[in-house]
Amino acid sequence: MIEQFELNLECAALLEINNIYMRGGKYNANLDMRIEAPSLIFSGTENDYPAVISAFSYSWSLIRNIGHIGRYTSIAKDVTFGETEHPTDWLSSSSFTYDPGFIWQRFAEQHGTGFQPISLPAEPKRSPIIIGNDVWIGTRVYIRGGVTIGDGAIVGNDAVVTKDIPPYAVVVGNPGRIVKYRFPEPIIERFLRLKWWRFSYTDFGDIDIRNVPEAISSLEDLCSSGCIVPYTPMSLTFRDLKEMGTRPSELAQFLRNARTAATQAR
Ligand SMILES: CC(C)(COP(=O)(O)OP(=O)(O)OC[C@H]1O[C@@H](n2cnc3c(N)ncnc32)[C@H](O)[C@@H]1OP(=O)(O)O)[C@@H](O)C(=O)NCCC(=O)NCCS
Repeated sequence: MIEQFELNLECAALLEINNIYMRGGKYNANLDMRIEAPSLIFSGTENDYPAVISAFSYSWSLIRNIGHIGRYTSIAKDVTFGETEHPTDWLSSSSFTYDPGFIWQRFAEQHGTGFQPISLPAEPKRSPIIIGNDVWIGTRVYIRGGVTIGDGAIVGNDAVVTKDIPPYAVVVGNPGRIVKYRFPEPIIERFLRLKWWRFSYTDFGDIDIRNVPEAISSLEDLCSSGCIVPYTPMSLTFRDLKEMGTRPSELAQFLRNARTAATQAR
Protein backbone atom coordinates (compact mmCIF):
# COMPACT_ATOMS: atom_id res chain seq x y z
CA MET A 1 0.00 0.00 0.00
CA ILE A 2 1.25 3.49 -0.85
CA GLU A 3 1.41 5.99 2.03
CA GLN A 4 2.55 9.58 2.10
CA PHE A 5 5.31 11.08 4.22
CA GLU A 6 7.17 14.33 4.34
CA LEU A 7 10.88 14.95 4.38
CA ASN A 8 11.70 18.48 5.48
CA LEU A 9 14.76 20.34 4.25
CA GLU A 10 16.72 19.88 7.46
CA CYS A 11 16.13 16.12 7.40
CA ALA A 12 16.99 15.94 3.69
CA ALA A 13 20.28 17.68 4.50
CA LEU A 14 20.95 15.17 7.29
CA LEU A 15 20.36 12.29 4.88
CA GLU A 16 22.69 13.92 2.39
CA ILE A 17 25.64 14.06 4.77
CA ASN A 18 24.95 10.35 5.31
CA ASN A 19 25.16 9.83 1.52
CA ILE A 20 21.44 9.38 0.82
CA TYR A 21 20.34 12.06 -1.64
CA MET A 22 16.58 12.77 -1.56
CA ARG A 23 14.97 16.15 -2.15
CA GLY A 24 12.90 17.63 0.66
CA GLY A 25 9.13 17.42 0.05
CA LYS A 26 6.30 14.91 -0.06
CA TYR A 27 6.88 11.25 -0.93
CA ASN A 28 4.39 8.51 -1.80
CA ALA A 29 5.71 5.04 -1.18
CA ASN A 30 5.30 1.65 0.33
CA LEU A 31 6.74 2.29 3.79
CA ASP A 32 8.58 -1.05 3.77
CA MET A 33 10.84 0.26 1.02
CA ARG A 34 14.48 0.41 2.09
CA ILE A 35 17.18 2.73 0.82
CA GLU A 36 20.88 2.01 1.25
CA ALA A 37 23.78 4.48 1.27
CA PRO A 38 25.24 5.81 -0.92
CA SER A 39 22.34 6.39 -3.29
CA LEU A 40 20.21 9.08 -4.89
CA ILE A 41 16.52 9.22 -5.80
CA PHE A 42 15.92 12.74 -6.97
CA SER A 43 12.50 12.43 -8.61
CA GLY A 44 10.66 10.82 -5.74
CA THR A 45 8.65 7.62 -5.60
CA GLU A 46 5.14 6.35 -6.13
CA ASN A 47 6.18 2.79 -5.47
CA ASP A 48 3.70 0.23 -4.21
CA TYR A 49 6.22 -2.55 -3.51
CA PRO A 50 8.62 -3.07 -0.59
CA ALA A 51 11.62 -2.54 -2.86
CA VAL A 52 15.24 -2.12 -1.84
CA ILE A 53 17.16 0.72 -3.50
CA SER A 54 20.61 -0.74 -3.16
CA ALA A 55 23.84 1.02 -2.36
CA PHE A 56 25.78 2.88 -5.09
CA SER A 57 22.65 3.30 -7.27
CA TYR A 58 21.00 6.49 -8.45
CA SER A 59 17.80 7.38 -10.26
CA TRP A 60 16.87 10.70 -11.87
CA SER A 61 13.42 9.26 -12.64
CA LEU A 62 10.31 8.60 -10.57
CA ILE A 63 10.55 5.23 -8.81
CA ARG A 64 7.34 3.26 -9.39
CA ASN A 65 6.37 -0.34 -10.13
CA ILE A 66 9.78 -1.39 -8.86
CA GLY A 67 10.42 -4.61 -6.91
CA HIS A 68 14.17 -4.20 -6.55
CA ILE A 69 17.09 -2.06 -7.70
CA GLY A 70 20.49 -3.70 -7.36
CA ARG A 71 23.82 -2.01 -6.62
CA TYR A 72 25.74 0.38 -8.89
CA THR A 73 22.71 0.91 -11.13
CA SER A 74 22.32 4.18 -13.06
CA ILE A 75 18.86 5.37 -14.09
CA ALA A 76 18.69 8.45 -16.32
CA LYS A 77 15.94 11.09 -16.59
CA ASP A 78 12.40 10.49 -17.86
CA VAL A 79 12.46 6.71 -17.58
CA THR A 80 8.97 5.25 -17.15
CA PHE A 81 8.66 2.07 -15.12
CA GLY A 82 5.47 0.51 -16.38
CA GLU A 83 2.03 2.03 -16.67
CA THR A 84 -1.34 0.61 -15.76
CA GLU A 85 -2.10 -2.27 -18.11
CA HIS A 86 -5.80 -2.01 -18.98
CA PRO A 87 -7.62 -5.20 -20.01
CA THR A 88 -7.10 -5.98 -23.68
CA ASP A 89 -9.48 -8.92 -24.11
CA TRP A 90 -12.57 -7.76 -22.18
CA LEU A 91 -15.63 -6.02 -23.65
CA SER A 92 -13.79 -2.71 -23.26
CA SER A 93 -10.26 -1.60 -22.44
CA SER A 94 -11.72 1.44 -20.57
CA SER A 95 -11.08 1.68 -16.84
CA PHE A 96 -14.84 1.59 -16.02
CA THR A 97 -14.38 -2.19 -16.27
CA TYR A 98 -12.04 -2.41 -13.25
CA ASP A 99 -11.94 0.94 -11.42
CA PRO A 100 -14.91 1.79 -9.17
CA GLY A 101 -13.52 5.28 -8.42
CA PHE A 102 -12.00 7.82 -10.79
CA ILE A 103 -14.70 9.50 -13.00
CA TRP A 104 -16.99 6.44 -12.69
CA GLN A 105 -18.03 6.63 -9.04
CA ARG A 106 -20.23 9.76 -9.11
CA PHE A 107 -21.74 8.85 -12.43
CA ALA A 108 -22.66 5.36 -11.18
CA GLU A 109 -24.18 6.85 -8.01
CA GLN A 110 -26.23 9.32 -10.09
CA HIS A 111 -27.42 6.76 -12.59
CA GLY A 112 -27.84 3.74 -10.35
CA THR A 113 -26.05 0.82 -11.82
CA GLY A 114 -26.03 -2.90 -11.38
CA PHE A 115 -22.62 -3.01 -13.02
CA GLN A 116 -19.77 -4.16 -10.79
CA PRO A 117 -16.19 -3.46 -11.86
CA ILE A 118 -13.88 -6.48 -11.75
CA SER A 119 -10.36 -6.32 -10.27
CA LEU A 120 -7.63 -6.67 -12.87
CA PRO A 121 -6.09 -10.14 -12.74
CA ALA A 122 -2.53 -10.47 -11.48
CA GLU A 123 -0.35 -11.12 -14.52
CA PRO A 124 3.36 -10.71 -15.21
CA LYS A 125 2.69 -7.41 -17.00
CA ARG A 126 1.11 -6.10 -13.78
CA SER A 127 4.02 -7.27 -11.61
CA PRO A 128 6.96 -5.28 -10.26
CA ILE A 129 10.05 -4.57 -12.35
CA ILE A 130 13.30 -6.10 -11.10
CA ILE A 131 16.55 -4.32 -11.92
CA GLY A 132 19.88 -6.03 -11.33
CA ASN A 133 23.32 -4.74 -10.39
CA ASP A 134 25.47 -2.48 -12.59
CA VAL A 135 22.53 -1.81 -14.92
CA TRP A 136 22.48 1.43 -16.94
CA ILE A 137 19.10 2.68 -18.19
CA GLY A 138 19.24 5.58 -20.68
CA THR A 139 17.00 8.62 -20.97
CA ARG A 140 13.29 8.24 -21.85
CA VAL A 141 13.30 4.43 -21.71
CA TYR A 142 9.95 2.71 -21.14
CA ILE A 143 10.04 -0.54 -19.19
CA ARG A 144 6.93 -2.66 -19.04
CA GLY A 145 5.69 -4.12 -15.74
CA GLY A 146 7.08 -7.52 -14.78
CA VAL A 147 10.33 -7.15 -16.72
CA THR A 148 13.59 -8.32 -15.14
CA ILE A 149 16.79 -6.59 -16.22
CA GLY A 150 19.85 -8.75 -15.65
CA ASP A 151 23.10 -7.71 -13.98
CA GLY A 152 25.37 -5.60 -16.14
CA ALA A 153 22.72 -4.90 -18.80
CA ILE A 154 22.44 -1.57 -20.65
CA VAL A 155 19.25 -0.11 -22.09
CA GLY A 156 19.90 2.57 -24.74
CA ASN A 157 17.96 5.83 -24.65
CA ASP A 158 14.35 5.78 -25.90
CA ALA A 159 14.13 1.97 -25.89
CA VAL A 160 10.84 0.24 -25.13
CA VAL A 161 11.52 -2.86 -23.06
CA THR A 162 8.78 -5.47 -22.97
CA LYS A 163 10.80 -8.61 -22.29
CA ASP A 164 13.40 -9.71 -19.75
CA ILE A 165 16.97 -8.66 -20.54
CA PRO A 166 19.76 -11.18 -19.92
CA PRO A 167 22.90 -10.20 -17.99
CA TYR A 168 25.33 -7.90 -19.83
CA ALA A 169 23.08 -7.49 -22.89
CA VAL A 170 22.84 -4.08 -24.59
CA VAL A 171 19.25 -3.44 -25.64
CA VAL A 172 18.12 -0.60 -27.94
CA GLY A 173 15.08 0.46 -29.94
CA ASN A 174 11.35 -0.06 -30.02
CA PRO A 175 10.64 -2.89 -29.48
CA GLY A 176 13.84 -3.35 -27.50
CA ARG A 177 16.27 -5.80 -29.11
CA ILE A 178 19.69 -7.06 -28.05
CA VAL A 179 22.30 -5.44 -30.30
CA LYS A 180 25.28 -6.92 -28.53
CA TYR A 181 26.71 -8.14 -25.23
CA ARG A 182 29.14 -5.98 -23.33
CA PHE A 183 31.72 -8.78 -23.08
CA PRO A 184 32.42 -12.25 -24.48
CA GLU A 185 30.61 -15.07 -22.69
CA PRO A 186 33.58 -16.33 -20.61
CA ILE A 187 34.04 -12.82 -19.17
CA ILE A 188 30.33 -12.50 -18.40
CA GLU A 189 30.47 -15.84 -16.60
CA ARG A 190 33.40 -14.62 -14.51
CA PHE A 191 31.53 -11.40 -13.67
CA LEU A 192 28.46 -13.34 -12.60
CA ARG A 193 30.57 -15.63 -10.39
CA LEU A 194 32.54 -12.77 -8.86
CA LYS A 195 29.57 -10.44 -8.24
CA TRP A 196 31.96 -7.50 -7.76
CA TRP A 197 29.05 -5.26 -6.74
CA ARG A 198 29.16 -6.91 -3.30
CA PHE A 199 32.13 -4.66 -2.62
CA SER A 200 32.68 -0.97 -2.21
CA TYR A 201 34.60 0.51 -5.14
CA THR A 202 36.67 2.38 -2.56
CA ASP A 203 38.37 -0.96 -1.79
CA PHE A 204 39.44 -1.48 -5.40
CA GLY A 205 42.74 0.32 -4.92
CA ASP A 206 44.83 0.60 -8.09
CA ILE A 207 42.94 -2.01 -10.12
CA ASP A 208 42.89 -0.98 -13.81
CA ILE A 209 39.15 -0.99 -14.52
CA ARG A 210 39.83 -0.61 -18.27
CA ASN A 211 41.53 -4.00 -18.44
CA VAL A 212 38.56 -6.15 -17.55
CA PRO A 213 40.11 -9.67 -17.54
CA GLU A 214 42.95 -8.44 -15.31
CA ALA A 215 40.61 -6.44 -13.07
CA ILE A 216 38.49 -9.56 -12.53
CA SER A 217 41.63 -11.59 -11.71
CA SER A 218 42.80 -8.94 -9.23
CA LEU A 219 39.43 -8.87 -7.49
CA GLU A 220 39.31 -12.68 -7.41
CA ASP A 221 42.74 -12.65 -5.72
CA LEU A 222 41.70 -9.96 -3.22
CA CYS A 223 38.58 -12.00 -2.47
CA SER A 224 40.29 -15.35 -1.95
CA SER A 225 43.01 -13.78 0.23
CA GLY A 226 40.34 -12.10 2.38
CA CYS A 227 41.83 -8.67 1.63
CA ILE A 228 38.45 -7.37 0.51
CA VAL A 229 35.16 -8.06 2.25
CA PRO A 230 31.59 -7.39 1.14
CA TYR A 231 30.31 -3.90 1.87
CA THR A 232 27.56 -3.57 4.48
CA PRO A 233 25.67 -0.35 3.80
CA MET A 234 23.89 1.88 6.23
CA SER A 235 20.19 1.78 5.38
CA LEU A 236 16.80 2.97 6.51
CA THR A 237 13.18 2.29 5.58
CA PHE A 238 10.61 4.80 4.44
CA ARG A 239 8.72 3.93 7.62
CA ASP A 240 11.70 5.38 9.49
CA LEU A 241 11.42 8.49 7.34
CA LYS A 242 7.68 8.78 7.93
CA GLU A 243 8.41 8.72 11.67
CA MET A 244 11.43 11.02 11.64
CA GLY A 245 11.36 12.93 8.34
CA THR A 246 10.30 16.14 10.05
CA ARG A 247 12.19 15.56 13.32
CA PRO A 248 15.86 16.33 12.69
CA SER A 249 17.25 15.53 16.13
CA GLU A 250 15.60 12.07 16.20
CA LEU A 251 16.71 11.37 12.64
CA ALA A 252 20.28 12.46 13.43
CA GLN A 253 20.42 10.03 16.37
CA PHE A 254 18.91 7.23 14.26
CA LEU A 255 21.47 7.79 11.50
CA ARG A 256 24.34 7.77 14.00
CA ASN A 257 23.17 4.39 15.32
CA ALA A 258 22.58 3.02 11.81
CA ARG A 259 26.10 4.09 10.77
CA THR A 260 27.63 2.39 13.80
CA ALA A 261 25.65 -0.82 13.16
CA ALA A 262 26.76 -0.90 9.52
CA THR A 263 30.42 -0.34 10.46
CA GLN A 264 30.32 -3.08 13.10
CA ALA A 265 28.78 -5.53 10.62
CA ARG A 266 31.82 -5.13 8.34
C1 LIG B 1 23.03 1.95 -25.92
C2 LIG B 1 24.32 2.73 -25.84
C3 LIG B 1 24.89 2.64 -24.44
C4 LIG B 1 25.26 2.03 -26.84
O1 LIG B 1 26.56 2.42 -26.67
P1 LIG B 1 27.79 1.68 -27.40
O2 LIG B 1 28.26 0.51 -26.62
O3 LIG B 1 28.80 2.74 -27.70
O4 LIG B 1 27.10 1.05 -28.69
P2 LIG B 1 27.30 1.30 -30.25
O5 LIG B 1 27.53 2.73 -30.55
O6 LIG B 1 28.34 0.29 -30.68
O7 LIG B 1 25.88 0.90 -30.84
C5 LIG B 1 25.52 -0.43 -31.10
C6 LIG B 1 24.36 -0.41 -32.10
O8 LIG B 1 23.19 0.09 -31.44
C7 LIG B 1 22.68 1.25 -32.13
N1 LIG B 1 22.21 2.17 -31.09
C8 LIG B 1 22.95 2.72 -30.11
N2 LIG B 1 22.18 3.43 -29.29
C9 LIG B 1 20.91 3.37 -29.77
C10 LIG B 1 19.68 3.90 -29.35
N3 LIG B 1 19.58 4.65 -28.25
N4 LIG B 1 18.57 3.60 -30.06
C11 LIG B 1 18.67 2.82 -31.19
N5 LIG B 1 19.82 2.27 -31.62
C12 LIG B 1 20.92 2.54 -30.93
C13 LIG B 1 23.88 1.79 -32.92
O9 LIG B 1 23.45 2.53 -34.03
C14 LIG B 1 24.57 0.52 -33.30
O10 LIG B 1 23.85 -0.09 -34.36
P3 LIG B 1 24.62 -0.92 -35.52
O11 LIG B 1 25.32 -2.06 -34.81
O12 LIG B 1 23.52 -1.35 -36.42
O13 LIG B 1 25.58 0.06 -36.11
C15 LIG B 1 24.17 4.25 -26.16
O14 LIG B 1 23.92 4.44 -27.54
C16 LIG B 1 23.03 4.89 -25.37
O15 LIG B 1 21.86 4.82 -25.72
N6 LIG B 1 23.40 5.55 -24.27
C17 LIG B 1 22.43 6.13 -23.35
C18 LIG B 1 22.73 7.63 -23.13
C19 LIG B 1 21.86 8.18 -22.06
O16 LIG B 1 20.65 8.07 -22.09
N7 LIG B 1 22.50 8.74 -21.05
C20 LIG B 1 21.78 9.28 -19.91
C21 LIG B 1 22.72 9.73 -18.82
S1 LIG B 1 22.77 8.55 -17.48
